[in-house]
Amino acid sequence: MSVENLDLKRVGEDLPLLEGIRTARAIRRLRTDSVPRELIRKVCEAGTFAPSGGNRQPWRFIAVTDDIQRRWIGERYKEAFHHYIGPAIELAKSPVFPDEKRGMQKAAIYLADHLHEVPVHLFVAGYTRRGEVQNQALMPAVQNILLACRAVGLGASLTTIHRRFGEELDSRLGLPPNIPTCALIPIGWPQGKYGTPLRRSVDELLFWNKFELASEQKVHLKT
Ligand SMILES: Cc1cc2nc3c(=O)[nH]c(=O)nc-3n(C[C@H](O)[C@H](O)[C@H](O)COP(=O)(O)O)c2cc1C
Repeated sequence: MSVENLDLKRVGEDLPLLEGIRTARAIRRLRTDSVPRELIRKVCEAGTFAPSGGNRQPWRFIAVTDDIQRRWIGERYKEAFHHYIGPAIELAKSPVFPDEKRGMQKAAIYLADHLHEVPVHLFVAGYTRRGEVQNQALMPAVQNILLACRAVGLGASLTTIHRRFGEELDSRLGLPPNIPTCALIPIGWPQGKYGTPLRRSVDELLFWNKFELASEQKVHLKT
C-alpha cells in the first residue's frame, strides 16, 4: 500500500502486542521517501506512555527532518562510527567470525554511510536529575517508540554513537546542558521486511528462584 493511501489514524492499531515485540528487529536499511509527521507524532505518543520514576516523564523528542541538519549529523555520525567499528571490522576478517555478526556489522555500517539520507533523525533527550544523566529513565520510551514503528510499518533502530559528539549536537538542536540527548532513532520506510531477530532461547536465560552458574557457563561455552 502506498503512503498516500494509508489510514494514518488506524495504521498499527491491530498488530498483536507480543507478535510486534517478537518481530521488531533493527531495520537499518531505509528508503529516502518522507514520513508523514502524523506518524512520527504517533510513535512519539507511544513513547510518552512509558513508565518513569515518579511519573516525571523526563523525555523530550526532537525529530530532525531538515536537510542541512541531517547532512551535518550524518557526516559526524559516519566519522564517529567508523572510528568505533574499525577494530571490529578487523576481527570480522577472520573466517571463524560468525556470519550473523558480520551481517549486523554490515547493516550498521550501511546505516552510518547513509544516515544523512534517512528522512527522520528522531532524538530522545531527557532531563538530568541531581546533575546526573538519566538514560535508564529514557530507554522504556525508546523501546515503546521502536515497537510503535514496528506496528505502523516504519523501519527503525536504536543508536547511541552520536554521544561521541553529543555536546556539539545537543547545542545545535537547541538543547540546554540539563537535557542531553540519549538516543538517536533513524526512522524511514524499510527497504526490507520486519522479522524475528536472532535471540537465545528464554529457556537458557530464565532461572527460577536462584541463578545457576553452572548452566550459565554452559551457555557461554556454546557462544
Ligand atoms: C544501548 C544500545 C546502543 C546501541 N547503539 C547502536 C549504535 O550506535 N548503532 C547501531 O547501529 N546499533 C546500535 N544498537 C542496536 C543494536 O546493535 C541492535 O539492537 C542489535 O544489532 C540487535 O539487532 P536485532 O534486534 O535486529 O537483532 C544499540 C543498542 C542498544 C541497546
